[in-house]
Amino acid sequence: MPIQTALFDLAGKGALVTGGATGIGRALAAGLAAHGARVLIGSRRAELVEQAATELNADIDEPRVFGTRLDVTDNDSVEAAVHTATERLGSLDILVNCAGIQLRKPAIDLTPEEFNHMYDVHTTGSLRCAQAAARGFIPQGSGCIINIASVCSFVDNIEVAAYAAAKSAVLGLTRSLANEWIKHGVRTNAIAPGFVVTDLNRQALVGTDRGRRILERTPAARFGQAAEMAGTAVYLASPAAAFVNGQTIVVDGGFLACGFTDSVAGEQ
Ligand SMILES: NC(=O)c1ccc[n+]([C@@H]2O[C@H](COP(=O)([O-])OP(=O)(O)OC[C@H]3O[C@@H](n4cnc5c(N)ncnc54)[C@H](OP(=O)(O)O)[C@@H]3O)[C@@H](O)[C@H]2O)c1
Repeated sequence: MPIQTALFDLAGKGALVTGGATGIGRALAAGLAAHGARVLIGSRRAELVEQAATELNADIDEPRVFGTRLDVTDNDSVEAAVHTATERLGSLDILVNCAGIQLRKPAIDLTPEEFNHMYDVHTTGSLRCAQAAARGFIPQGSGCIINIASVCSFVDNIEVAAYAAAKSAVLGLTRSLANEWIKHGVRTNAIAPGFVVTDLNRQALVGTDRGRRILERTPAARFGQAAEMAGTAVYLASPAAAFVNGQTIVVDGGFLACGFTDSVAGEQ
């Protein structure tokens, strides 16, 4: 086998990033684009998506980030976004399932509707997008799916039962797709971010007792930054990860590895 010299080169690849206008999704889109991919970002707020695409293009040598309205809970919207990705990017090779919501509520008060909606966005939404993308990936004999899990896929985070259940299911979905579709050249992996301050959790983390307690058991003694998730996405999408399939990579400053820490939580 020839030695691969451009291990992290994504030039010529097309990527769809759900939830790509804000937070972690935006950082992953920026990372993929910086490594040469053409990227379509999508979420429900169409204007925000277009604005994010414009801003992301300002940071790279030539415009290759585009925006589309996308609701991952709606089959037609997902099909349309995958079609748009294929048309505008020239090909679709990478799917990043990053759309997400949060609901903090005692489990005793959680309604089935709330639970099902959480599942619909994170788990069924990821499956919906994966299926739509794989209908192109399978005939072309290649493709890469990156699901976004969470440290809540592994440990509890108090009063986020619906989120934890949905994110745990993302791990199982990742393994199943990895197992079923690798024979078609389609790899499926996941990233499990630790605590990154974004619109999803700013109110819960910044200046709160919850935030302080999280930092106390994070060896890195700080929250992560969205940009710190991008390298893992670039890696998983790239030739460097050609034999990586069915894995979940945790990017959390050591949170999950920690029993107790002698780090001192820094000021945030
Ligand atoms: N921040 C963390 O500490 C952390 C840790 C672990 C995992 N995660 C995961 O990382 C992902 C990104 O979250 P974030 O922290 O970056 O929060 P964020 O900035 O709020 O991003 C979530 C994105 O998902 C989009 N979205 C929500 N519902 C959608 C739907 N039905 N269809 C399409 N897009 C939808 C939102 O855009 P619209 O409102 O425009 O639709 C938003 O851009 C989520 O899956 C989250 O669970 C985050």
